[in-house]
Amino acid sequence: MTGYLAPTKKVRLADLARKKADGEKWAMLTAYDFATARVFSQAGIECLLVGDSAANVVYGYATTNQVSVDEMAFLGAAVVRGAGNALVVMDLPFGSYEASDEQCVRSATDLVRRTGAHVVKLEGGVRIAPRIRALKDAGLAVCAHVGFTPQSVDSLSGFKVQGRDAGAEQLRSDTRAVVEAGTDMVVFEMVPADLAAELTAECPVPTIGIGAGSGTDAQVLVWHDMADVPAGDHRAKFVRRFGTVGEGLAAAAAEYKRAVHLGEFPGPEHAF
Ligand code: KIV
Repeated sequence: MTGYLAPTKKVRLADLARKKADGEKWAMLTAYDFATARVFSQAGIECLLVGDSAANVVYGYATTNQVSVDEMAFLGAAVVRGAGNALVVMDLPFGSYEASDEQCVRSATDLVRRTGAHVVKLEGGVRIAPRIRALKDAGLAVCAHVGFTPQSVDSLSGFKVQGRDAGAEQLRSDTRAVVEAGTDMVVFEMVPADLAAELTAECPVPTIGIGAGSGTDAQVLVWHDMADVPAGDHRAKFVRRFGTVGEGLAAAAAEYKRAVHLGEFPGPEHAF
């Protein structure tokens, strides 16, 4: 395998905080199964996110709001088994934390117990700050997600950049609220690059950007976008393709089919 060596010891929150202090960037990718978690961890990806984007790319639902705690738990447990030394962040799915602090802590502890994940992530700023405080009081590590929050896609009237014009003050308030509540990390999704950089500079905890420019401490992408395995027709502006895995997979499948149809596979060397 080429590229960076996998970390030789478990990645901890303190390591990510140290990287922030040293100005050293790091990478997060989504993962939803054992094999890809293993590949990404061996490639040196510091942090794996069991994102509720699983709703779209694993389960084929139209929105992230359709995935359940159970559906996330099975994926999360597989990812943790393959994650090696990578830190694993687990999304709290829609409907598992909004009702009360008690519901939030119950869902998070359930998911952590069933998966072994290290950090739980939840969407929202000011409105979700009490939940973050409750999670911290329960001894959990937390990642907040502000800016565009996919679980609120309908109330935000679609996939729109957040934090522009008057929205900038809201994003500042959201970021300050989650930091004051004790979050250990913050994801900025689809926000202006200069604002993400400004907030990263004032934020005492690591920031992770997706569609937030290069000024955040880390970056995250859905791995299907990163490696070009299309799971839908829409390609966001912030996505860069780092491979052509979808094309490679389709070519491998077509070649397998051809060999089977022609009786070329299996050959004598594959038989017992
Ligand atoms: O669910 C997910 O994959 C995410 C990332 C896009 C940040 O939340």
